[in-house]
Amino acid sequence: MIQRLKDWLVGYQSAPDKDDGEWIPHLQDGPLPKHVAVIMDGNGRWAKKRGLPRMAGHRAGMKSVRHVTRAADDLEKIEALTLYSFSTENWKRPKDEINYLMSLPEEFIRTDLDELVERNIQVRMLGNKEELPSHTVDAIGKFEEATADNTGMVLNFAMNYGSRFEIIQATRKIIDDVKSGKMNRDDVDETLFNQYLLTANLPEPDLMIRTSGEMRISNFMTWQLAYSELWFTDVLWPDFGRKEFFEAIQDFQRRSRRYGAV
Ligand code: IPE
Ligand code: IPE
Ligand code: MG
Repeated sequence: MIQRLKDWLVGYQSAPDKDDGEWIPHLQDGPLPKHVAVIMDGNGRWAKKRGLPRMAGHRAGMKSVRHVTRAADDLEKIEALTLYSFSTENWKRPKDEINYLMSLPEEFIRTDLDELVERNIQVRMLGNKEELPSHTVDAIGKFEEATADNTGMVLNFAMNYGSRFEIIQATRKIIDDVKSGKMNRDDVDETLFNQYLLTANLPEPDLMIRTSGEMRISNFMTWQLAYSELWFTDVLWPDFGRKEFFEAIQDFQRRSRRYGAV
C-alpha cells in the first residue's frame, strides 16, 4: 500500500517534464502491458483544422505509427502492439479516401520496412483479407514475409477488422468443427473460443488507447477488451507521439486490476 502510494507520488511528480531518456528506465520499473491496442482516431479532424484534405491527416498519422511503434519496442517487454487501421465500417467512406488508406501499406514498406526488420519486429495483419484490393494484400504479404523470422514485438495492423465479423467467423468455424465431430459442444469454453479468434496467439490487450476524444469501441476487439484498462485522450492521432504513449503506460501502471476480485 505504502509502496503503491510512493510509486504514485513519484510518477505524479515526474510525469510532465521527463526527458525521453528518463522514461524508459522509469517505466521498466513498473508492470508493462504485454499487449497494447490502439484506436488511432482523429486524422480527419487534424487535417480539417489545417484546411487540408482528410488524406493529409492519414499521411501525418503514419508518423505517429512510426513513433508509437518505436516507443513500444524501446520498452522491450511489450509483446504486441495492435493498431486499428481500417474497420469493417470504414468502407462507408468516400472512395478516394478508401483508396488512399489502401495504398498506405505500400508506402509504409518504402519508409519503414528496413527499420522494422532491424528492430526484429514481426508485422502481421488482423482482419478479413478477402475484401481488400490485391495491391494492399500483396504489400501486407511482403511485410509478413520479410519479418516472419523475427522474434521481437508483434506489430499487428487491424485492417478490415471488425469484432462482430471476427466473432461470427469464430462461431461458424466452431459449428463446423462440432458438426464434423472434431470436438463436442461441451468443449466450447472461453479458452477454446479464444483460439478461434483472429487474436488466437496473442496475449489479451492489457491496455487500450483511443485518441481524439471519442469514448467508444467502434467494433474493436469487444471480446478481447473485457478486462483491458482503457485510456482516452483528446489528442488527435497525428499529434500523438512517444511522450503521449509513455504517459498512457504510466497511467496504466497506476491502475489496480482486480478482475472482479477484491
Ligand atoms: C482515424 O482517423 C483513421 C481511420 C479511421 C482510418 P479518422 O479518419 O477517423 O479521423 P476523424 O475521426 O474523421 O477525425
Ligand atoms: C475507428 O475509428 C476505426 C479506426 C480507427 C480504424 P472511426 O473514426 O471509424 O470510428 P467512429 O466511426 O467514429 O466510431
Ligand atoms: Mg474517426
